Amino acid sequence: MTEEKVLEALKSVTYPGFTKDIVTFGFVKDVKVNGGQVKVLVDITSSAKEVQDQIKNESLIALQKAGFADIDIEIKAPKAPRQLSNSVSGKNIAPQIKNFVMVSSGKGGVGKSTTSVNLAVALAMQGKKVGLLDADIYGPNIPRMMGLDGQRPEIEGNKVIPLNAYGVEVMSMGSLMEDGQSLIWRGSMIMKAIEQFLRDILWSELDVLVIDMPPGTGDAQLTLAQSVPITAGITVTTPQKVSLDDSRRSLDMFKKLHIPTAGIVENMSGFICPSCETESDIFGMGTTEPVAKEYETTVLTRVPIEPAIREGGDSGKPIVYHKPDSQTAKRYQEASQNLWAFIEKINEEGGVSNEAIQPTTPPGVSACSM
Ligand SMILES: Nc1ncnc2c1ncn2[C@@H]1O[C@H](COP(=O)(O)OP(=O)(O)O)[C@@H](O)[C@H]1O
Ligand SMILES: [Mg+2]
Repeated sequence: MTEEKVLEALKSVTYPGFTKDIVTFGFVKDVKVNGGQVKVLVDITSSAKEVQDQIKNESLIALQKAGFADIDIEIKAPKAPRQLSNSVSGKNIAPQIKNFVMVSSGKGGVGKSTTSVNLAVALAMQGKKVGLLDADIYGPNIPRMMGLDGQRPEIEGNKVIPLNAYGVEVMSMGSLMEDGQSLIWRGSMIMKAIEQFLRDILWSELDVLVIDMPPGTGDAQLTLAQSVPITAGITVTTPQKVSLDDSRRSLDMFKKLHIPTAGIVENMSGFICPSCETESDIFGMGTTEPVAKEYETTVLTRVPIEPAIREGGDSGKPIVYHKPDSQTAKRYQEASQNLWAFIEKINEEGGVSNEAIQPTTPPGVSACSM
C-alpha cells in the first residue's frame, strides 16, 4: 500500500460538475499511508456542502475498492459562500484589467458570441475601455463578427498585440490559427491557452474584458476563474425549455466558482417583423424570468430574432454600432447599462476575489507546450 496507489485510486473521483479529477486539480494535499490505514486531506474550493459530501463519499468508495480498510478522509473547504475583500487578494494574471465578464451558455448556437460582441461594442460606445476575448477555442467566430476575419495580430517581443475594431481590443484563437486549421484540445492545452490569452496578450489598461466562453461548463471556465477574478457572469439562453435547462448549468457553475451573476440574456425572444416591426412569439418569450428569480438574478434584456442581427454578424458589422436606433440595438444598450451598473455595485461592495478557487497547478500543465 503506497501513496501512489492512493493517488491512483483518487484519480477516479471527478470534481462535481467538471471533467477533471481531484488529483489532477491538485486538491489532494496530504496522504499518509500505514499498511491498510490511510489518511487523506482534500482541500477544495467550494463551500457547497453537496460538493464536499460527494467528494468524500466517492473518495471513500475508491479507496475501499483499492483495498484500504481503515480510511480517514478530511475535507477542507472555505466557509464563506463568496469571499469579498477590498483588495484583490486572489490571483490575477492580467492585473491591468479592472473587470472581467464571463459570457457563457449551456449550449452552442444560442447567440453567445453575438451577445458578447454587441455588449462589448455597446460598452465601448459608452466610453469604456473594452477588450473582447474569444475564448471559444472550439468555434472562434468573433473575428468574423467584428470584421477582423483574416487579420493577423502583430507580435512584440514574445507578446501579441490585440487587434482593434469598433474601439474594442480583440483577441481570438481564430486570429492566431491558419484558416480551416483545427486543433484537438486536451484539458491541459485548454488551460494553457486560456492562461496565455491573459498573460501573453498586450491588453491595455482596460475597464472591462468581455470573454466569450466555449459553450457548457468545463475546464476553460474553471481555468479562467482561477486565473483572474471574474466580476460578473452572464448566461445567454433562448426561451425554449430545453435551452433554459442547459442555462441552469451555467448558473450553477457561477455559484460553484463564486462568480457574481449579473443576469441572463434571453435571446431570440420573439420575432420583430422587418416590414411592419410588430413583435410576435416564436420560441416563446419571457420564460427566463422564473429561472432568473430562482437564481436570485435578473433578465438583463430580451433580444428578439431580427434578421439584421445575423446579417451584422456575418458581415462583421455589429448591429449595436451600425443600426443603433433599431429595437434590438436598444436592447443591447439596455443590457450593457444593466451590466455596468452591476459591475459598479460589485466594486462598491468591495470587489471580488478568486482566492477561494485556487488549487495548486495540476501536474503536467507546465510541461505542456501547445
Ligand atoms: N437575436 C437574433 N436574431 C437573429 N439572428 C441571431 C440572433 N442571435 C444570434 N443570431 C444568429 O444565430 C447564429 C448563432 O449565434 P452565435 O452568436 O454564433 O451563437 P453561439 O455563440 O451561442 O454559438 C449566428 O448566425 C447569429 O448571427
Ligand atoms: Mg459562438
